[in-house]
Amino acid sequence: MNNRTKARALRFLSNVTLIVGVLQFLAMHSNAQEADSIVPSAHFSNVDFEAPALDKEFHAKKREDLRAIMPENSAAIIFSSSIKNRSNDVDFEFHQDPNFFYLTGLNEPHAMLIVFKEEQRVESFDSKEILFIQPRDSMKEIWSGKTLGVDKAKELLGLKYVFASGMFTEFDFDFYKFDKVFYIVDHTSITDDDKNRRDLFSLKKHFVQMLDSTRKNVDLQMLKEFMATLREIKEPEEIALLRKAIEITCGAQHDLIAKLKPGMYEYQAEAIIEFGFKFQGAESPGFPSIIGGGKNSCILHYTSNRNELQDGELLVIDIGAEYHNYSADITRTLPINGKFTKEQKIIYNIVLDAQNAGIEACKKGNKFWAPNEASTKIIIQGLVQNGVIKKRMDYRKYFMHGTSHYLGLDVHDIGLNGSLAPGNVLTVEPGIYIPKGSDCDPKWWNIGIRIEDDILITKDGYEVLSDCVPKTITEIEYLMAK
Ligand code: GLY
Ligand code: MN
Ligand code: MN
Repeated sequence: MNNRTKARALRFLSNVTLIVGVLQFLAMHSNAQEADSIVPSAHFSNVDFEAPALDKEFHAKKREDLRAIMPENSAAIIFSSSIKNRSNDVDFEFHQDPNFFYLTGLNEPHAMLIVFKEEQRVESFDSKEILFIQPRDSMKEIWSGKTLGVDKAKELLGLKYVFASGMFTEFDFDFYKFDKVFYIVDHTSITDDDKNRRDLFSLKKHFVQMLDSTRKNVDLQMLKEFMATLREIKEPEEIALLRKAIEITCGAQHDLIAKLKPGMYEYQAEAIIEFGFKFQGAESPGFPSIIGGGKNSCILHYTSNRNELQDGELLVIDIGAEYHNYSADITRTLPINGKFTKEQKIIYNIVLDAQNAGIEACKKGNKFWAPNEASTKIIIQGLVQNGVIKKRMDYRKYFMHGTSHYLGLDVHDIGLNGSLAPGNVLTVEPGIYIPKGSDCDPKWWNIGIRIEDDILITKDGYEVLSDCVPKTITEIEYLMAK
């Protein structure tokens, strides 16, 4: 048999095997679609499903914490993310809604959690919380693998009342009786799978139909605030996951420090970074990697990453691995040839001093904006002293963002932006960006520098969680020369 005949025969055999396998599977599971009923589906009970990243007790506690800040006689409804279509029959990788994950631990679409302030009688049981999830579907599982299903959800997520999503309409929920019904409107478009009356689109549609048509007890704002109140304080087990995401990101930054050289392309630098993420066990980047060389170092959220890296220019590397839903966010700026120029050194040290001042302001009781104020002062001073700007207010041309955001399940995590408190994790990331053509001496043009670290507020001060990547000029030049 020549190679082409062999390949054809193998293809034929594997097609036959696949068809036979599918037919056998269908015969075995002809009734295998999980019934939309409360009856346990015992035939699926031996599925070996990966345990959630955080204990079920963590998520149960968070539901309790939410109840504790909800007003009397209220209900909160939290939806999972939807599946987002990329094009034709290809979807984007699924990413769970952080609030939904925080309260359940479930990483699947087509689900809905109801949290009542007080225990409610629903049908024949009393409960403070009910979860509706996509039922297992043996046909879909052939293509996309196992899903959790109702029974495993009860066991692994620790919720007592879990039902297939199609059951939602069967329950006689009376949302009129509550003083407040909280939910969050997600403005991203949700595809209606018209073959699936249990999809997220249907869940939301049915839920809205059940509401009082005057909407007088509906509140679309407060749930965001409740979730921000909870999520801005990280529990020790969340900090452990953040530490892991940060450690992975540090590892990837080190890989690039060791390999960076002129002639490399931005996408090759990105490949080194994201190889490091995956190789160390991160599920994905927490946001598109920003790898901007030369003029692109001055574009704050540059993500096309297609240019060649030139001798004598700088590279901004703003990256974060996502590990078990938690994301890191670390920026370093490197000289592509391993040595900073005189002008680059001057601007770099202004940014580094500004960052150090910002980090020093990370203390409990300080305002959320205190690091920003401290960093800004240093940047203004540095730009004026070096003649980059004449009027102090002109600093905004070159430093046009704030220094800080919370970090957690979202890279720009939610929080109240009030006073800093132990358990807050925030970034401190000042920068100076001087694009070509700026109103200053051309010797400064195309210098874009950002330095970003992830800071945990503690009882007594702060901890720089990302101090595993060096950032002084001496350290960087030393490491790059090795
Ligand atoms: N990675 C985007 C940011 O630093 O905010
Ligand atoms: Mn960043
Ligand atoms: Mn950031």
